[in-house]
Amino acid sequence: MKPGRFITFEGIEGAGKSCNISHAGMLLKNSAKPVMLTREPGGTPLGESLRELLLGHKHDDISSTAELLLMFAARAQHLQSKILPALERGEWVICDRFTDATYAYQGGGRNLDTAAIAALESLVQGERRPDLTILLDLPVSMGLERAGNRSAPDRFEREKHDFFERVRSAYLQIAERDPQRVKVVDASLPLEQVQQQINSALFTFLDQ
Ligand code: TMP
Repeated sequence: MKPGRFITFEGIEGAGKSCNISHAGMLLKNSAKPVMLTREPGGTPLGESLRELLLGHKHDDISSTAELLLMFAARAQHLQSKILPALERGEWVICDRFTDATYAYQGGGRNLDTAAIAALESLVQGERRPDLTILLDLPVSMGLERAGNRSAPDRFEREKHDFFERVRSAYLQIAERDPQRVKVVDASLPLEQVQQQINSALFTFLDQ
């Protein structure tokens, strides 16, 4: 059986990941692909418990290094018990965030050493990387305004504007370094145009 493909969506808060992930899932299903949607941090019972700790306010004093290790702990469980088995079954896995988010938030946002992140990445993932990453990019002020109209802010959403500027530029640097894998979509445009860009990224990929 042909192994599945691993697709990730990334972007700052308010970039429109959820709605565009549903859209991508529908598009792949309509192309007769078996699809599994999942997210990080989360995706497994352990990962979802870690998500609660990471996003909630019970531990507002969590250190940056502890945060980094918890992200990778959730990821190790997620890969082993959910993502890799699905790919082996030939499913197309769409994951709401993955390791690029760690480079962007813990590396860019929290200023942690990129070499330490890379070491954890190879410990947890070996050579495994997403086959395609869609980066929904938009100005920070626009993203935060959209996100602010939703529920109460989580532990990351409470960060200041500058933090998200660092996150956004770290994401854009990743895309610049790896244009084959990372497709940047202008998420500031009206939804229909955003989805057209996503369709064309996915169609090229489906044809490969
Ligand atoms: P979201 O999935 O609802 O966007 O929330 C997840 C939050 O966790 C978001 O603020 C980004 C953050 N995050 C990291 O800081 N590092 C990571 O590696 C991942 C996967 C998420």
